[in-house]
Amino acid sequence: MNNENIKIPNHVGIILDGNGRWAKARGLKRTAGHLAGYENLLKLSKYVLTRGTKYLSVFAFSTENFNRPQEEVDYLMDLFIKGFNRDRGYFNKENIKVVFSGRRDRLSDKVLAAMDQMMEETKDNTLGTLNICLNYGGRAEIIDAVNKIINSNEKNITEETFKKYLYNDLPDIDFMIRTSGEVRISNFMLWQLSYAELYFPECYFPDFNEIEYDKALEEYTSRNRRFGGLNK
Ligand code: FPP
Repeated sequence: MNNENIKIPNHVGIILDGNGRWAKARGLKRTAGHLAGYENLLKLSKYVLTRGTKYLSVFAFSTENFNRPQEEVDYLMDLFIKGFNRDRGYFNKENIKVVFSGRRDRLSDKVLAAMDQMMEETKDNTLGTLNICLNYGGRAEIIDAVNKIINSNEKNITEETFKKYLYNDLPDIDFMIRTSGEVRISNFMLWQLSYAELYFPECYFPDFNEIEYDKALEEYTSRNRRFGGLNK
């Protein structure tokens, strides 16, 4: 497809799936797959936002992921600390603002400090926003919003006022990608996904590169979004 005709979604969501299988296929430990996934995310986020998308949300760690073997949870937490501390400079150089969505409980002080410093140091960047969902659950986000509203003076809740109580002020997701061929939403951004186009490529996340993303955009361009209205 001609590049000029490609439609660029304003908000893309990605469920980063298949790191473990990517590693297993290479005779490596699962954790090597997470490292490769993280390195891929650095490159891919730059590519997605440089192509004109303004918001990229990624599912890095669900509340349920705490049920994985302790060794794997520890590895991921350590990757978050080391990765975020190492890559603040990268996100600043690429002019990417980084925010986080999720509950802060169960995360160690070191993880929280790395997240807070990342948010603080990238808050003025303007290319686009990378929203990292960490210790995140879509239902939990809605419940947490409801509890904030109960404790507020809000009287008449509309969709617009409700949205303000979610973890971050983000527009609806236009296009949701889950890598590795699994066809599930798995509690990812339930409020924001209401009208998203969904795409499930077979490729594992560490292999989901610029070429794969361009294929995804072709697929998005071919979809006819109706938002419940009539075919145009
Ligand atoms: C799913 O693969 C991936 C995760 C649970 C973690 C995702 C984490 C990363 C990509 C690295 C860190 C990323 C950020 C954004 C800081 P899986 O382990 O479920 O793979 P499998 O289904 O093949 O076992």
